[in-house]
Amino acid sequence: MNNEKFSLSPTLKQEINQWVKKFPKGKQASAVLMALRLVQDTHGHLQDQHLDAVAEYLSMPKIQVYEVASFYTMFRREPVGKHVLSVCGSISCYLRDANGIIETIQKKLGIGLNQTTACGQFTLKEVECLGACCGAPCMLVGDHHYHTDMNPEKVCDLIDQLDKEEKHG
Ligand code: FES
Repeated sequence: MNNEKFSLSPTLKQEINQWVKKFPKGKQASAVLMALRLVQDTHGHLQDQHLDAVAEYLSMPKIQVYEVASFYTMFRREPVGKHVLSVCGSISCYLRDANGIIETIQKKLGIGLNQTTACGQFTLKEVECLGACCGAPCMLVGDHHYHTDMNPEKVCDLIDQLDKEEKHG
C-alpha cells in the first residue's frame, strides 16, 4: 500500500479557489460541495484521502467533509462504472413505477442496485428526488443527463444507445 499522503493537484487547487473566492473571507468551507465535486470529477470517486485533503485545504474539521460526502447521493464513495444510472425512487417517481424501471435495468444488465457490470460500463443506483418530479419516473445518466417520463422500453433503448456509442466511439 502506498503510504504517501495524497495532495490536491495545482489544477484542482486553482479550480477550488475559483469557488472559494465567491464566498466572504473566512467562509471558505462554503465551497466544500464544489470542491468535492471537482475532486470526484478528477478521481472518479471520493476516497478517504481525498476527503482529508479537501478538509485540510478548506481548513475544515474532517468530520464535516465526511458528513457532506455521505449525505448527498451525487457523491460516490466507491468506484463506479463509466455510466452511472441513477433512478429516482422518491414518491412521484415511485408512484409512476420507478421500480419497474429499476427491475428492467437489473434484468437487462444482470446487476443489482449499487452494482457495476463486469465490463465496467454501467452502475445502477436508486437515488432520492432528482428535482424533476413532473417528468416522473425520471433518471439521471452520469451527473448531468436527465431522462424523464421513462418506461421499460425507453430505458432499454437508452442502454442500447449508450452501449452502441461505447462500441463505435
Ligand atoms: S420524485 Fe422523482 S424526481 Fe422528484
